[in-house]
Amino acid sequence: MADFYQEILSLRAIRAYEDRPLSDEHLDAIVEAARWTGSSKNRQDWSFVVVTDRDRLHGLAECGDFTQPVRDSAATIVLVKEPGGHDFDLGRAAQNMMLAAKAIGVASCPITLHRPAEARQFLGLSAEQEARYAVAFGYPAPNAAPAKFGGRKPKDEVVRYDRA
Ligand SMILES: Cc1cc2nc3c(=O)[nH]c(=O)nc-3n(C[C@H](O)[C@H](O)[C@H](O)COP(=O)(O)O)c2cc1C
Repeated sequence: MADFYQEILSLRAIRAYEDRPLSDEHLDAIVEAARWTGSSKNRQDWSFVVVTDRDRLHGLAECGDFTQPVRDSAATIVLVKEPGGHDFDLGRAAQNMMLAAKAIGVASCPITLHRPAEARQFLGLSAEQEARYAVAFGYPAPNAAPAKFGGRKPKDEVVRYDRA
């Protein structure tokens, strides 16, 4: 239990990956973590596009501004908001994928697709589907470390009790 809690607290965005594919077992475990995420009214108004082809990863990276992790990843999973879907649900699925990945030794980094219209076209989505966020995955490179600008605001600054 204490270990589980520490794993949650120590989850960080990792942007340097080994140049090798994820095993099918590991990739499937990550996808399953997304699929089993709870959603508003259990509607599951989402889908997940798993990109592993190197050329496709480079193309996908053009849809956002800070996407080097996508180019370097073994797999990047795009969270697609289906009609009626909620960002909150997609955020939960992303976090579950990241935590599940960590549990099996896979590093990850959330990614913003700053040009979702381009992402929609690139992925072949319909006008009703939205692709604004993704998560890049890979086995951590030997020198992989969290960004130096990490850390968090002090508790006093961000936590209030009973009223603002
Ligand atoms: C919604 C969201 C979008 C993000 N987009 C990107 C991105 O496009 N590129 C990137 O390198 N990191 C991205 N990140 C990762 C953040 O930079 C990272 O979570 C933050 O710096 C804290 O990092 P740490 O948990 O390693 O301390 C994103 C994170 C979130 C939550």
